[in-house]
Amino acid sequence: MECKIRHWKIEDAKDLAIALNNKKILDNLRDGLPYPYTEEDAKEYINEMLNSDKTSTFAFAITIDDKVIGSIGVFRKENIHKYTAEMGYYIAESFWGQGIGTSAVKQACNYIFNNTDIIRIYAEPFTYNVPSCRVLEKAGFRYEGTLRKNAMKNGKILDMNIYAIVKE
Ligand SMILES: CC(C)(COP(=O)(O)OP(=O)(O)OC[C@H]1O[C@@H](n2cnc3c(N)ncnc32)[C@H](O)[C@@H]1OP(=O)(O)O)[C@@H](O)C(=O)NCCC(=O)NCCS
Repeated sequence: MECKIRHWKIEDAKDLAIALNNKKILDNLRDGLPYPYTEEDAKEYINEMLNSDKTSTFAFAITIDDKVIGSIGVFRKENIHKYTAEMGYYIAESFWGQGIGTSAVKQACNYIFNNTDIIRIYAEPFTYNVPSCRVLEKAGFRYEGTLRKNAMKNGKILDMNIYAIVKE
C-alpha cells in the first residue's frame, strides 16, 4: 500500500483521533497524550503544529488516498544540537505490518535532508519495541546504543535504543 506524507489540515482531526485512540500506540510514545484521545485533542494538536515554528517543527500526516492513517514529526534540538532533530511516528493499528511505517520514515528523512539544514535525525524507541527498531533499520538508521534505564513509562523503568541517520 502506497502512503504519502503531507502537511496537516484541521479537517484531519477526526481520522487522527481514530488512529491515535489506541492504548497499544500510546504505550509506545512519550507521556502527555490523553486516553481516550478525542477529536478535540486531535484538533488541538493539529492547530499547535500549524502554528509552530516552521524552522524547527516538521509535522506530517501519513496518508493513504489523502486519508490520515498516522503521524510523523521531526523536531529540531537546540544550542549545540541545532543541526540535530528527533523523530517520532505512529501508524493506525489496522495498517501495521505493510511497510507503511518504513516508507513514512524514509519520506520524512528525505524531506528534512533536502529542505532543511538538519544533518542528523535520531529516534529513541523502547528497547522492547522491535517493530519500531525494525522500521528504523529498514529506513537506513544505524543503531548507536542502548540508553539503560532511560525512561519511566506506565510505572516501569525501561531501556531505550538510540538510532540515527546522518546526511552524507
Ligand atoms: C512502529 C510502527 C510505526 C511500525 O509501523 P509499520 O507500518 O507496521 O512498520 P513496517 O510494516 O514498515 O515494519 C514493521 C517491521 O517490524 C516487524 N515486526 C512487527 N512486529 C514484530 C514483532 N512482534 N517482532 C519482531 N518483528 C516485528 C515486521 O515484520 C516488519 O519488519 P520486516 O519488514 O523485516 O518483516 C507501528 O507499529 C506503530 O505505530 N506502533 C506504535 C507506536 C510506536 O511504536 N511508534 C514508534 C515510537 S519510537
